[in-house]
Amino acid sequence: MSAIAYVNGQFVPQDQATISIMDRGFLFADGIYEVSAVLDGKLVDNDLHMARLERSVGEIELPLPLPVAEIAELMRELVVRNRLQEGLVYLQVTRGADATRSFPFPANVKPTLVMFIDQFDFLASPKAKTGIKVKSVEDIRWARRDIKSVALLAQVLAKQAAAAEGCHEAWMHEGGIVTEGGSSTAYIVKGEGASARIVTRENSRKILPGCTRHALLDLVRETGIELEERAFTVEEAYAAKEAFVTSATNFVMPVTEIDGRKIGGGQVGPVARRLRELYIAHARKG
Ligand code: PDD
Repeated sequence: MSAIAYVNGQFVPQDQATISIMDRGFLFADGIYEVSAVLDGKLVDNDLHMARLERSVGEIELPLPLPVAEIAELMRELVVRNRLQEGLVYLQVTRGADATRSFPFPANVKPTLVMFIDQFDFLASPKAKTGIKVKSVEDIRWARRDIKSVALLAQVLAKQAAAAEGCHEAWMHEGGIVTEGGSSTAYIVKGEGASARIVTRENSRKILPGCTRHALLDLVRETGIELEERAFTVEEAYAAKEAFVTSATNFVMPVTEIDGRKIGGGQVGPVARRLRELYIAHARKG
């Protein structure tokens, strides 16, 4: 049975969900997206995703077709209609279709709003037990990475280069300074035991402000583990005790190898393990 998708006001079987070839999302990547996790049939940290959606569309002067509260309600309805327990809701809004391919904004924008779901197992993820491998690649993206734009070609190429070497994520860097993962936030852990400290880049136009990052750092502050919000280099990551990534599709995912170098002896470390447990407990609380 086909999953149910949402397209411009209607719930339809996903294999019948279509948009125009003149849609500006297709022609110009003139659109914004969000990915929200679903756990136990409920959206995780969705208020943070809706706040980031409003900010992203505001930065590109794209009107939402509906108030965010109604969009969030439609997301919940999509989860119910698909009987989704564990997976994600993908949402995309674009500046709609126009009669001609004209670069400036059309006079009367009719935004396109689409949503679909994907099912997968977060909790039973075998990668969470072994950790993932990462490849570093030069970050060739545009200058407004804080906007969750659908223009993802640089990330497609980065993640393809990683996948070609058997890696599950790319860590993008500028001249050796890590920006973020291809579709995740990057972290390292320095020191051990009571002197362990978590390092992750501060939010700026250089990276996407991760919703999982936001929620996780609140949890970290409660644990008392030291936190440094600053940039770090690929070299510093090679020498770290632990490394991990966060995203709506990974929660907290340990990284045990970067560019073929084992991190923390190639084993999942205690900080990443604990943070994953803390985040999952937070996500389940709803
Ligand atoms: N990506 N940085 C980038 C470049 C991302 O694409 C993502 C998420 C993140 C983490 O953000 P969050 O914690 O809000 O998911 C950081 C989504 C999952 C994707 O493109 O599939």
